[in-house]
Amino acid sequence: MVALVEAGYNPVIIDNFSNSEKAVLEGINQITGRSIPCYEADCNDASIVRMVLEKEAIQGVIHFAAYKAVGESMDQPLKYYRNNLGSMLVLLEEMERAAVRHLIFSSSCTVYGEPDVLPVTEQTPVQTAMSVYGNTKQIGEEILRDVIAANSPLKVIALRYFNPVGAHSSALIGELPRGVPNNLIPFVTQTAAGIRKELTVFGADYATADGSCIRDYIHVMDLAEAHVAALNKLRHLEASSFYDVVNVGTGEGNSVLEIVETFQRVTNVPLPYKIGERRPGDIPQIFADVQKSASFLAWKAQRSLEDSLRDAWRWQQQLEAKK
Ligand code: UD1
Repeated sequence: MVALVEAGYNPVIIDNFSNSEKAVLEGINQITGRSIPCYEADCNDASIVRMVLEKEAIQGVIHFAAYKAVGESMDQPLKYYRNNLGSMLVLLEEMERAAVRHLIFSSSCTVYGEPDVLPVTEQTPVQTAMSVYGNTKQIGEEILRDVIAANSPLKVIALRYFNPVGAHSSALIGELPRGVPNNLIPFVTQTAAGIRKELTVFGADYATADGSCIRDYIHVMDLAEAHVAALNKLRHLEASSFYDVVNVGTGEGNSVLEIVETFQRVTNVPLPYKIGERRPGDIPQIFADVQKSASFLAWKAQRSLEDSLRDAWRWQQQLEAKK
C-alpha cells in the first residue's frame, strides 16, 4: 500500500483480517498521511467484490488473499483450496463483469520444488507441489494461464516471491505472526527479544557450504516495489490479453547460519541457537535468477540482507516497547 501510494496510485483494500491486524492499517495511514479505504470482507464473497470494483472504479487488482502455512495446508486442504483458489475464481469472474483488465498474482518460488539447477529462471520446470499450499500457487498460475489462453481481455503477471523478510524502515508496519512463528526471521527476532529461548537451525548437514539451507531473502519493501513495477508494466502493454510469470528475489542465496551471523553483527544482539534436525519438506537451496525482473519489469531489489535484518529487528523492538 505504501509503495503504491508513493507511486501515485489510490489503493483500496479488501481484507477479512483472518491473518492480519487492523493496527497495520493505522501504520499505513500514518506513513502515507492518507486514510486508505478498507473493506472488511472475504474475497470469496462475490457481492462485496462486485460492489468494491464498481464503487471504487478499480483499474487493477493485486491478489494477495491467501493462507500460507505449509504444515496447516496439509492438515486442512479444503480450507486452503477454498480460500486461495475460491477467492481467485471470484475475483476473475467479477473483474470480467466489471471490465477490470489488470491483475497481479502473488505466486511463490515454491512452484519450482527442489530445483536441479541454480539460480532458478522462469524457464526452470515447475515440479509437483510438495504441499497443498504450494499446489494452490501452481493451480492458481494454471487457472490464469487457461483464462488468458481463452483470449480473455485480461493482462496478468504472476510474481513468484522468494522469501519476503524485513519491515518498513519506519517500524510502523511489519509482520505479526500469530503464535509460534514458522518462518525463520520472525523466529530470529523473537528469540533475540527473549520471547523464544533459542533458535533451532533446521539441519546443518545439507550439501551447502556451511551445511544449512540456502534461501533468497528479499526485503518486503523491495517486494512491494516489484508490484508497482509490474502494475506499471501491465498498464503500458500493447497486447489486450497477456500472461507471464516473473521471479521476485535478490539473486543472492544466504544460509540460515549466515542469517544468524549477519543478524548478530548488524544488531549487536546475541542470538542463542542450536543445530537441530532437518525440517521435513525443506529443500536444501533455492535462489532466483533476476534477469527477467530486471529486463521485463525494470526492477531490481535495492536493499541488502543487512537492511532487511535491521528493519526486522527495529520492528520487533517497537512491538516490545508497546507491551
Ligand atoms: C516457506 C514456504 C514458501 C513461503 C515462505 C513464506 C515452502 C516449501 N516454503 O518458505 O513457499 O513463501 O515460507 O511464507 O512452501 N528455519 C530454521 N529454523 C526455524 C525456521 C526456519 O532453520 O525456526 C530455516 C528453514 O529450514 C529454511 C529457512 O530457515 O531453510 C527459511 O524457512 P522459512 O522462513 O520457513 O521459509 P521457507 O520454508 O523457505
